[in-house]
Amino acid sequence: MSVRSETIFKPDIFKGKVVFCTGANSGGICSIQVDTLMRHGCNAAILGRRAELSLSAAKKFEENNPGRKCLGLSGDVRDYKSLQDAVKKTVETFGKIDFVIAGAAGNFLSPIEAASPRAFETVIGIDLLGTYNTIKAVLPELKKTKGSIIAISATLQEGATLLQAHAASAKAGVDTLIRHVALEYGPYGIRANTIAPGPIEGTEGFDRLVPKDTGGQLNPAKKIPVQRFGTKDDIANATVFLCSPAASYVTGTQIVVDGGEVLMKTQNSFIPYPEALLSGMSFRPEDQKKDAKKAGSKL
Ligand code: COA
Repeated sequence: MSVRSETIFKPDIFKGKVVFCTGANSGGICSIQVDTLMRHGCNAAILGRRAELSLSAAKKFEENNPGRKCLGLSGDVRDYKSLQDAVKKTVETFGKIDFVIAGAAGNFLSPIEAASPRAFETVIGIDLLGTYNTIKAVLPELKKTKGSIIAISATLQEGATLLQAHAASAKAGVDTLIRHVALEYGPYGIRANTIAPGPIEGTEGFDRLVPKDTGGQLNPAKKIPVQRFGTKDDIANATVFLCSPAASYVTGTQIVVDGGEVLMKTQNSFIPYPEALLSGMSFRPEDQKKDAKKAGSKL
């Protein structure tokens, strides 16, 4: 069961803090994060490609969190100058930046041969170069506040994921980049981590990737070790933890918020999961032989 972050963390834990976030316009993971940090007292600046979307998302965040301010900015994360301008406006408005969430991402399903070099470059550009540009532009501000960075990663790059060569390559780069940021900027008091979300209900990614019709098969959530899909609260809690002083010794790492889903990539797919475990089935060779005989005698 997931819980609301206010039941665990102080409701005003981030009073007076400022978060700068890319990729919060679309109602996805970063929108949950900005909304949560504002609920706990932060003011926010969000950057998206389309100005009208940034402005309407910022208005919504303010309506959800009375008394808090959200600045809607437009720019392309692939353009470093966009980020420099956005950081400047944020500091002019709020005076500083304490937290950075680098989450702007692009993705589609495609085998390698069906996507052009430009398609690959586009995803690497938004996800990896975009994360680099965001971090590079905010580092001078984070040095002043001893701030914290969260980049949005994924579990696609663990092993390999069908039709995701472009996005998995980009996210592997994001993980590596974050480790280097943690190493180089730890001495300045800056922490950098990634969050790798699993299937989180109510997000765009979930709607695109989890089929509504399972053709009468087992509830797909049962294929996840904790036996449920993720909720917005799961992302909220990981975000509050990473930004809070409770995580002051946590840097250069990845927090996977997926109920253990990524572990299924390396499981023996011939053993029915979770039925084989929950049924109390024996895996001793002698019992297996007996079961095979019984099954044979029924034929
Ligand atoms: N399959 C294969 N190639 C694709 C594609 C798909 N589904 N979607 C886009 N491309 C290719 C385009 O054909 C183009 O390559 P080309 O010029 O060689 O034809 C290249 O990618 C860039 O596309 P474009 O639409 O010009 O770029 P964009 O910056 O406007 O779009 C994308 C970015 C490609 C990531 C787009 O999928 C997108 O905006 N998605 C919505 C955001 C999103 O994915 N969010 C999820 C985050 S997990």
